[in-house]
Amino acid sequence: ELSPIDKAKFVAAKRAAQFVEDGMRVGLGTGSTAAWLVRCLGEMVRDDGLRIKGVPTSTRTAQLAREVGIEVISLDEAKWLDLTIDGADEFDGELNLIKGGGGALLQEKIVATASDQMVVIADIGKEVETLGAFPLPVEVIPFGWQTTQALVEETLVSMDVLGRNSTLRMNGEIPFVTDEGNYILDLHLKRIGNARQMALVMNQMPGVVENGLFIDICDAVVIGYGDGRVEVRD
Ligand code: A5P
Repeated sequence: ELSPIDKAKFVAAKRAAQFVEDGMRVGLGTGSTAAWLVRCLGEMVRDDGLRIKGVPTSTRTAQLAREVGIEVISLDEAKWLDLTIDGADEFDGELNLIKGGGGALLQEKIVATASDQMVVIADIGKEVETLGAFPLPVEVIPFGWQTTQALVEETLVSMDVLGRNSTLRMNGEIPFVTDEGNYILDLHLKRIGNARQMALVMNQMPGVVENGLFIDICDAVVIGYGDGRVEVRD
């Protein structure tokens, strides 16, 4: 028996799986919600003869996709994708997102941007009025990361945010390392007044590789509720 939150994630994933058509090249997201989607697609491949090629957004997802029988190809082999389905940490009324809670934001953004459509799957708890309560992940190069962190924090002074401190994401005693070998700074902004500007400003800094704000990338959010209801917003 699933908990209400897992049920919400599951029903959203199951509904979003209906967007997948035979022959599609599909970007496969990362995280607990996206994992439900990958399992659903695996079942459709096995039971319904669905033929798809999947481009995973992390080593974790690549492993799961192979386990459930989805043919995995690289983004360069696919070149362009019909659809990407991924989770999110927050979404707002304009379908802008914060992603990267699982640390895969860089590959996720590359894959989503290379797709005709991006559909997000999320439980209703991820909906916010204004982005920023969830710490914004910023992927940085390990070289000089403390200098980059200082630069990031200094820049926040001139931005429309409520909080300004940042923390290096850890994996126990050592820094968390992304699939691309980088570190992640989590920015505790509480409220991001101008998410579009924030996304642009962050990516101006030399040590910053990418940030977790997805602006104008998501086309639809499939929202799951704990009682099994599903709502599609686009
Ligand atoms: C991974 O880097 C993230 O962008 C995930 O998509 C996000 O953290 C959502 O994860 P859950 O589905 O586990 O909440």
